[in-house]
Amino acid sequence: MPSLSEETHGAVKMLQPGATIGIIGGGQLGRMMALSAKYMGFRIGVLDPTPDCPTAQVADFQIVGEYDDKTAIHDLAEKSDVLTYEFENVDAEAIDEVRHLVAAPQGTDLLRVTQDRVHEKTFINEHGTETAPWREVNDFDELEAAIDELHYPCVLKTRSGGYDGHGQHVLKNDADLEKIRARGDRGGGFPPSILEGFVDFAFEASILVSGNGEQYVTFPIVRNDHRNNILHMTIAPAEVSPEIAKAAHELALRLAKGFELAGTLAIELFVTKDNRVIVNELAPRPHNSGHYTIEACSIDQFDAHIRGIAGWPLIQPKLLSPAVMVNVLGQHVLPTRAQIASHPEWNVHDYGKAQLRHNRKMGHITVLTDDTAATVAALEATGCWDDLK
Ligand SMILES: Nc1ncnc2c1ncn2[C@@H]1O[C@H](COP(=O)(O)OP(=O)(O)O)[C@@H](O)[C@H]1O
Ligand SMILES: [Mg+2]
Repeated sequence: MPSLSEETHGAVKMLQPGATIGIIGGGQLGRMMALSAKYMGFRIGVLDPTPDCPTAQVADFQIVGEYDDKTAIHDLAEKSDVLTYEFENVDAEAIDEVRHLVAAPQGTDLLRVTQDRVHEKTFINEHGTETAPWREVNDFDELEAAIDELHYPCVLKTRSGGYDGHGQHVLKNDADLEKIRARGDRGGGFPPSILEGFVDFAFEASILVSGNGEQYVTFPIVRNDHRNNILHMTIAPAEVSPEIAKAAHELALRLAKGFELAGTLAIELFVTKDNRVIVNELAPRPHNSGHYTIEACSIDQFDAHIRGIAGWPLIQPKLLSPAVMVNVLGQHVLPTRAQIASHPEWNVHDYGKAQLRHNRKMGHITVLTDDTAATVAALEATGCWDDLK
C-alpha cells in the first residue's frame, strides 16, 4: 500500500497519488471531496450507513456502517492513509482512538470546538473576532437572567447538534419565553444551550479558508440567501466595501492559524448595517456556500481541502468569474430537470441521492455571469424556485 512518503513540504508530510483517503460520511460533500481526490490520483474509501450513498458512487470502496460505529471507523482507518470527514458531528474520541493507524491531519480539536457553540464562540472571541453577544444557559433561571442582559429579540440555540435552524428559538417577548418554560414543564427538559443577541444584519455572508497546517489561503467573501433556514442562493463575490472584504479575510486567517488548519473551514458571517463583520458559526469542512468555487475559482474548496489534508502546498484561489449558485432541493428536482435543455449556462450538479424528499439537498446549479442581478432574476423567472418566494 503506498503510504505517506518521506518527502515533505515544510513540516507537513506529503501524501502521494495512489494513497487512500478515508471519508467519514457519504453525502454530497464527501462526494465532491472524492471527485477532487480522484483526479489527483488518490483512492477513496467511505463510511456511511446507506449502501451506494452519494460518495460511494464515486469511491473505490464503502464500509457500510453508522458514523459512530467504532468497529467500522477502525476498519476504515486500517484501509486508509489519511482520514477526513464531511460533517462535524463525528465522534472525536473515535478518531483519536485510531490515530495510531491513520493520519488525521485535521486533528480533533477543530471538531471539538465546532461541535459545541460555547467552545466555538469562546474560540472565536479569543482570536480577536466579534460574535453576537452570547451567554451560556443551562436552565430556565439562567435563561431569564441572560435575557435581562441581552434583551429581546434574542435567539436560543442548543449547544450542539443543531443544523438548518433545528434546535433554535427566536425570542421576541415574554410570551415566547413562556413557551420555552411550558416546553420544560411538559417534560421537554432544557438542553444545554446558549442565548445570543439578535443581530440586525444587512445580509448573511461566508468565507472559506483552507490550510495545510502551516500555510493558509482564503476564498472570496460571498453573499448567502437563506429560505426556511436552508441556504437557497450564494452570490459570488458579495458586493462589499474593500474594508469589509479585508476584515473577513483577516479574521479567516486568524481562525485558520488558531486551529493550525488542515483542509477547508467555512465561516458563516453577518454583515451588519453599520458595516461590521460578525462571525455566526464555523463548519470544519467544505460548505454549501462554497460550491460556486468548483466552476468559478482557480482552485475549488474541495481541491483545497484534499490538498490541505494531503500536505500539499496551496496557492491563493482566484475568482475567475462572478457566479450565482442555487440549491436544488427535493421539490426543485423535477422542475429544474425539465428546463436543463433550455439552459446551457447551467452547470448542473446532482448528488445521486436515491430518495427525493421535500427540502432535502439533491443538487445545485451554478451560473457564471458578468451580471449577477440579471442572473438571479433569470433563475427566478424559470419558476423552479417559486415555493421559496
Ligand atoms: N444571533 C442571530 N441573529 C440573527 N439571526 C440569527 C442569529 N443566529 C442565527 N440566525 C439566523 O438563523 C440561521 C441559522 O443559524 P445558525 O447558527 O447558522 O444555525 P445552523 O447550525 O442551524 O445553521 C442563520 O443563518 C441566521 O439566518
Ligand atoms: Mg448556520
